[in-house]
Amino acid sequence: MARFDDRVVVVTGAGSGIGRATAIRFGSEGAIVACLDVNEAAAATTVATIGAAGGRAQAWKLDVTDAAQVDTVITAVAAELGRPTICANVAGIGKFARSEEQPVEEFRQILEVNLIGAFAVSRACLPHLLESGGCIVNTSSSAGIFGQPYNAAYCASKGGVSLMTKAMAVEYTRRGVRVNAVAPAGIDTPLTKDFDFVEGSNPREYMKMMPPTGEMGTPEMVASLIAFLASDEACYINGTIVPIDMGVTA
Ligand SMILES: NC(=O)c1ccc[n+]([C@@H]2O[C@H](COP(=O)([O-])OP(=O)(O)OC[C@H]3O[C@@H](n4cnc5c(N)ncnc54)[C@H](O)[C@@H]3O)[C@@H](O)[C@H]2O)c1
Repeated sequence: MARFDDRVVVVTGAGSGIGRATAIRFGSEGAIVACLDVNEAAAATTVATIGAAGGRAQAWKLDVTDAAQVDTVITAVAAELGRPTICANVAGIGKFARSEEQPVEEFRQILEVNLIGAFAVSRACLPHLLESGGCIVNTSSSAGIFGQPYNAAYCASKGGVSLMTKAMAVEYTRRGVRVNAVAPAGIDTPLTKDFDFVEGSNPREYMKMMPPTGEMGTPEMVASLIAFLASDEACYINGTIVPIDMGVTA
């Protein structure tokens, strides 16, 4: 018997990087995976990968910043796959910028996706999780633990994710829903490739954000931690923000 046999798992950002690896991990351990992503084609590719390995998954296009769409998609997931028991909020964006130059709209968009999007999906899943005794795993970041230069919007969003995780954990402890978060740093994904240094800034300023060994982690490493936190083996872990960063936040 696999750890997630027949459990319905919602994964946002399932089309790329950590979300894709997480969806594949759950699929390989018996789950029925709802792969949600604003990039529908990418989510469909993840579904195909899970299917080719003998797993079960279905893709939905979902922009987590559209609260009405979130409700519609989670209702459709429950109707078509069954009641979700695990909600993995992985979708996220980021961009380095000088705070005095960053448009307010860009700051707002980063909060909308990373923080409010995770809230909207959790909110829509919670009635199902309360019925099934399920759990939420959010994706924070080392940026949700310490301040990083040129990263105010991302840090604000991930700091928000960290404390939202703790707040929901204490809110739902007695009702049987656990809420935890992973806090990665330096994972090799398209997101980190796209994080361009701010023009004229000193590369040394970014050193504290990177693993001291210089070697990046893999999306599969984070997927493994998300799966552990979502599993019954982690039944006594609640309200934690677990770093996975080769000591960046140590
Ligand atoms: N890569 C790292 O080193 C690192 C470190 C800390 C935290 N994180 C977090 O991990 C998560 C995954 O990041 P990744 O590195 O795999 O990035 P990624 O760019 O590879 O994947 C992000 C996915 O989110 C999707 N997405 C973006 N906006 C969306 C929206 N509005 N609605 C739905 N889906 C949306 C994208 O289409 C993409 O498939 C993010 O929350 C990120 O902040 C990553």
